[in-house]
Amino acid sequence: MKKLLVTGAAGFIGSNFVRYMLDKYDDYEITVFDALTYAGHLENLEDVKDDPRFKFIKGDIRKAEDVEEPVKNSDIVINFAAESHVDRSIADAENTMNTNVMGVLTLCEAARRHDIERFVQISTDEVYGDIDEGFSKETDPLSPNSPYSAGKTGGELLARSYYRTYGLPVIVTRGSNTYGPYQQPEKLVPLFVSNAMEGKSLPVYGDGMQIRDWLHVMDHCSGVDCALHKGEPGGIYNIGGGNQRPNIEIIKIILEVTGKDESLIKHVADRPGHDRRYALDASKLLGMGWQRTHDFETAMRDTVRWYMDNTAWWKKIKESEENKEFADKWYANRK
Ligand SMILES: NC(=O)c1ccc[n+]([C@@H]2O[C@H](COP(=O)([O-])OP(=O)(O)OC[C@H]3O[C@@H](n4cnc5c(N)ncnc54)[C@H](O)[C@@H]3O)[C@@H](O)[C@H]2O)c1
Repeated sequence: MKKLLVTGAAGFIGSNFVRYMLDKYDDYEITVFDALTYAGHLENLEDVKDDPRFKFIKGDIRKAEDVEEPVKNSDIVINFAAESHVDRSIADAENTMNTNVMGVLTLCEAARRHDIERFVQISTDEVYGDIDEGFSKETDPLSPNSPYSAGKTGGELLARSYYRTYGLPVIVTRGSNTYGPYQQPEKLVPLFVSNAMEGKSLPVYGDGMQIRDWLHVMDHCSGVDCALHKGEPGGIYNIGGGNQRPNIEIIKIILEVTGKDESLIKHVADRPGHDRRYALDASKLLGMGWQRTHDFETAMRDTVRWYMDNTAWWKKIKESEENKEFADKWYANRK
C-alpha cells in the first residue's frame, strides 16, 4: 500500500480527488490533512469516511509541528490546501500569502527531510495572468494579478526550487476554472444557483464578459492523477478544460436550469484587478494520455442540478456567521 497525504482535501477539489482515487485504485491509503477553515467541511467526505483506507487529521500546513508526523508517515504528498478565493485575498492578502506561500514552504521542508517520493503542488492557470488571445503554455512567463494568484505563483516557484536545490521530486499542476459538486458557495456556480433558489439577485462583476476555461472537477482530478503517475520530477502540467466561456454564459445556463429569468441579474462594480481571459494549452498532458471525459453542456447542467438537490449542504455553509459577514461586507462595496 502506498501512503498518500492529501492536504486541503476537506475543500472542493481535494475532496473530489480523494473520492476519485479511492474509487480508481485499491493500493492507496489516503490521509486527509486539513485545517477546516471556513472552506473545509468534513461533510464533503461523508461518503468515504468509513473506508478503511481513509484517515483524517486536523492540522495547519503553516505549522511545522502539525505537518511533521503526517509527512513522515507518507510516501507521496499532494498539496491542495490554499486560501482559494480571489475576493478574500483582496480583502486580506496577508492571510492568503501565509497559507499559499509559507504553508507550501513548511510542507516542502518536511517533505525533503522525509524523502517523499512525489510532492505535487496544485497550482492554477491564474499564475499566467490574463491573456488577450492564444493559449498559455507551461513555458510562458508568469504574471499574476491578484494576491491569490501571486501567492499561488510564490508557492509553486518555491516548490520547484526545492526540486532544483534539494532534489525533492516536485510536480506542479496548473488547473483551469473548475466546476462540480461540493464547491464553496461563495464561488460563481454555487453562489448563483443558491441565490437563484433563494430569489436573490445574481451579482455579476462588470459586463460579465470575463472568459474562463471551464474544467469539470473529475477531469481536474484525472489530470492530477496523470501528472502524479506519468509526470517527470520538476515538471509543470497545464490541466485545461479546452472550453472558454464568458461568465455571463454560465449565468444564463444557471437561470435556465433553475427556471428563473434574467431580471435576477444585477451588474455590480467589477472586482479590482479582475483578469479578463484565461486559456490553457493542455497539449502536454493530453500527449501523455490524459483525456477529459465530461461534456461541458451536460456536466454544467448536472452540476447546477446537484446544488438544487443539495440545498441542506450549501445552506448550512452559506448561513454561517463568518460567510455571511464576509459576503455582506464585500458586496456592500461593489454597488
Ligand atoms: N477551484 C478552482 O477553480 C481551482 C482551479 C485551479 C487550481 N485550484 C487550486 O486547487 C486547490 C483547491 O482549490 P479548491 O477550490 O478546492 O479550494 P477550497 O477553498 O474549496 O479548499 C481549500 C481547502 O484547504 C484547506 N486549508 C486552507 N488553509 C489551510 C491550511 N493553512 N492548512 C490546512 N488546510 C488548509 C481548507 O480548509 C479547505 O478544505 C487550491 O490550491 C487552488 O489554488 C483551484
